[in-house]
Amino acid sequence: MPATVIVGAQWGDEGKGKIVDLLAQHADLVCRYQGGPNAGHTIIVDGETFKLRAMPSGILSGKECVIGGGCVVDPEVLLEELDDLAARGVATEGLVYLSGNAHLIMPWHVAIDRASERRLGRLQIGTTRRGIGPAYADKAGRLGIRVQDLLDPKILRQKIEVALAEKNVWLERVYGVEPLDLDDVAARLEGLAQRLRPYVSDTSLLVDRALDDQRFVLFEGAQGTLLDLDHGTYPFVTSSNPVAAYAAVAFGIGPNRIDAVVGVSKAYVTRVGEGPFPTEIEGPNQERVRELGGEFGTVTGRERRCGWLDLVALRYAVRVNGITSLALTKLDVLSAFEELPVCVAYRLRDGSETRDFPAHQSDFHHAAPVYETLAGWAEPLDDVSSVDELPAAARAYVDFVERELRVEVSLIGTGAERERVLSPRGLEAVARP
Ligand code: IMP
Repeated sequence: MPATVIVGAQWGDEGKGKIVDLLAQHADLVCRYQGGPNAGHTIIVDGETFKLRAMPSGILSGKECVIGGGCVVDPEVLLEELDDLAARGVATEGLVYLSGNAHLIMPWHVAIDRASERRLGRLQIGTTRRGIGPAYADKAGRLGIRVQDLLDPKILRQKIEVALAEKNVWLERVYGVEPLDLDDVAARLEGLAQRLRPYVSDTSLLVDRALDDQRFVLFEGAQGTLLDLDHGTYPFVTSSNPVAAYAAVAFGIGPNRIDAVVGVSKAYVTRVGEGPFPTEIEGPNQERVRELGGEFGTVTGRERRCGWLDLVALRYAVRVNGITSLALTKLDVLSAFEELPVCVAYRLRDGSETRDFPAHQSDFHHAAPVYETLAGWAEPLDDVSSVDELPAAARAYVDFVERELRVEVSLIGTGAERERVLSPRGLEAVARP
């Protein structure tokens, strides 16, 4: 039975939540493989808006949802989300599994994320300030506290004590903020632990058995390729690996068990936070794209920076993820424009042109976009219900992307609601290749 990975092909916010939500209808398990509450999926079902943070969006289709060992979990945020879903009538009972290997975001991680960004000032990363980077840093530094530590109150308190002895020195002496009180933190965590214990599971075994039992597994990444710690635009990246291969690492399954990789890309580009962005739009069209696309952060509310479609970066995403088909979202946002520049190459500092994403950061920082200008269609896509009904120029835009990337566009987003996605081959064929 196939396992399919859904991965962001840009800087996050590509509309993965909606694509996962759609494909999840044909899945048995939906598994989130990295990131934490820095992610925010907005999904509109029957006119009701859901903003999910830690939970895989498959929960809205009543699917079993698994939060894998590559994630970092803020227990308070996760419980709030479970409560909110329950209050709105979405069933979660018996459907949510949480890896014991996932790391916990502790109060000091959030405090350090905020203080560190403040201290960096002009050089800040522009993080979501949810403690993501410090939690992953402690994972690598072997000072992290894992979900499975919630199972034993004695161990939990000991680990908090060890970590706090060091973190309070940082908080007070380096960042000049208030230290945290051991008893307060331990009591708060113990309260949260009691509620989270029933969800703790061996998610590697769970996924392995599901695949053996011919059940269909959908892996969902958070953020996007260019925010990948190793393959993104370092240091303006997140602290985990959104790339598709990490699904196998995070869940402890072999890479040969993944059959398909669906990349998700907007029909244009957005980026939140700092860092180079070659196709960032100059002038009033940036504001137009932002307003029409509703480009404000789900988690932080920050304005997203907007740019024209960058095929050099997308070609790179196809390469590093092994993307087998592409979901092109928010095509309708481009309806407002008569001409659409699309970046097909970069001009480098030495005057040369490249169609490949530069390996050296300084080349990327100074890369200038080489545009090909395509005709816009300048009409709304509201009534389009099949690919054949797309205006000719919109169809040509999609064909151009396919030709340039040599990858099929299997899904096309034409609006915010769940049903506003065109799928030339049908959803099931995309979900279960
Ligand atoms: P962090 O993940 O909070 O550490 O932030 C690091 C970088 O990743 C910043 O540029 C954030 O704006 C960006 N980032 C993190 N999560 C998301 C997301 O879900 N969408 C878009 N950008 C994100």
